[in-house]
Amino acid sequence: MLCLTLTGSTLEENRALVQQNRKWISLAELRLDYLQADEQKIASSFPSTVDIPVILTLRRQSDGGKCTLSEKQRLQTLYESAKGDFAFVDIEEDVKKSDLKFKDPLFENKVDFELSLRQRGVRIIRSFHDFTCVPADIYGRISKLAAKGDIPKVAVTPKSMIDVIALFRAQQELSSIKEKIIIGMGEFGVCTRILYKKCGSMLSFCSAGEGAPGQLSAQVMSELYRADKLDEKTHVFGIIGNPVYHTASPRIHNPGFEAIHYNAVYVPFLVDSVRAFFKLAEMLQIHGFSVTVPHKRNVQPYLGRITREVKQIGACNTVTRIQNMWKGTNTDYYGFLAPIADEIAQGSIRTALVIGAGGASRAVVWALHNHGVKVTIINRSVEHAKLLSDETMSSFDSLEHCNRYSGAVDLVVQTTSVGMAPNLDEDPVPSFVFSGKEIVYELVYQPKETPFFRRATQAGCHVIGGAQMLIEQGKLQFESFTGYHYPHWVHPEI
Ligand code: ATR
Repeated sequence: MLCLTLTGSTLEENRALVQQNRKWISLAELRLDYLQADEQKIASSFPSTVDIPVILTLRRQSDGGKCTLSEKQRLQTLYESAKGDFAFVDIEEDVKKSDLKFKDPLFENKVDFELSLRQRGVRIIRSFHDFTCVPADIYGRISKLAAKGDIPKVAVTPKSMIDVIALFRAQQELSSIKEKIIIGMGEFGVCTRILYKKCGSMLSFCSAGEGAPGQLSAQVMSELYRADKLDEKTHVFGIIGNPVYHTASPRIHNPGFEAIHYNAVYVPFLVDSVRAFFKLAEMLQIHGFSVTVPHKRNVQPYLGRITREVKQIGACNTVTRIQNMWKGTNTDYYGFLAPIADEIAQGSIRTALVIGAGGASRAVVWALHNHGVKVTIINRSVEHAKLLSDETMSSFDSLEHCNRYSGAVDLVVQTTSVGMAPNLDEDPVPSFVFSGKEIVYELVYQPKETPFFRRATQAGCHVIGGAQMLIEQGKLQFESFTGYHYPHWVHPEI
């Protein structure tokens, strides 16, 4: 189940949010602490005005909420609002039984809040929050809460891949507790929100727009990740990196899976330790994953087999499980070649100038060299250019000498990060004069047009953008992940 967190300041606003997100969600959580004071007073009417079950929550500040009432007033407000037709009421783990007895003019004796909820068939969620870590006794806490017949909810903050593993292990450790809510907050927790079923969680929270840290929108959770449709048989794929959330790859792979009705999901994993990730990969039976900066080298000790390209480039961007062994390939290499393969085959690209000598450049230089193109590498640090040129039997030069190559090469490839945020206005070779005849390849894909890209276009060059390479390498990854061609009718939005 996907549960939309309602953080509007009025009931009307929250009703509109339910309606706008209705096709993606099956549950909503009304956050009383976000409502204006006068709206809080009439919140009990809310569930009967929407067509989905509603959780009632009044979160105090220490648990990440906005409620500033005294604890006594807070619980009294929760009690009053809970008179409405809510399906669940969230009460924090540390609230004592004795604090849940209320005077009510309708009754002679004090009302036992918990008992009255149970008698009306309202389920109680007992919640625990930790914004600093995943506590060591998390399984014990969940078991204790479940023993009382309530639904345990733990919202904790993984700070590493090891913490993420602890949350996924809850599935096995606590398999006897069918109803529980487990949430990994913060940036490491995103994969636990998408794969909530693999943590054994009965639901995952999502937002209408900007949500809590790590929380995704209902639309992204449902349409891009199909989080609520995943089941035991779903093959899990993903991308590992640090940072990783800027990546466009989920928008390539997930629509591809859906189009060919392949039961799979592709998830971003923020990875601080490759070693820990391989443990998680075994645990979740991950079928394959993409690798991005800074792990393209780090994964290699864990691979049983690598291709010639991975060995040459020293970088692996694709890992697949083949007969219980991890195999590393490099689709950047072939993805780069795809848009220029015909020109190389026809002999219209025989010489190339490659700007930059970093990781991206290595794949480019090897790909060109292996296809008989004569390469010159120019780089800000000339010693880096020399090292790569020695390895690949190419020539090298410094950036200042770039003009020596104006009109003298068939292809110019830009592999540095210049032109990407925060250097959006910069050009790595501002003095290079394009003749208009060379093919220009800009590897940066965000933004689509860098100053270098624009200059080359204005000079009349045939310019290839980085999005094309990204999509090509993604399609090749898709093939090695699934064994099927990428569906030609899907056009990923990068
Ligand atoms: P990637 O893996 O994306 O290629 P990298 O390995 O860090 O990233 O390589 C970055 C490349 O961009 C290098 O060639 C770098 O030049 P240096 O070897 O001199 O560091 C180049 N680069 C980065 N910032 C640059 C700048 N402001 N001007 C020119 N080149 C730059």
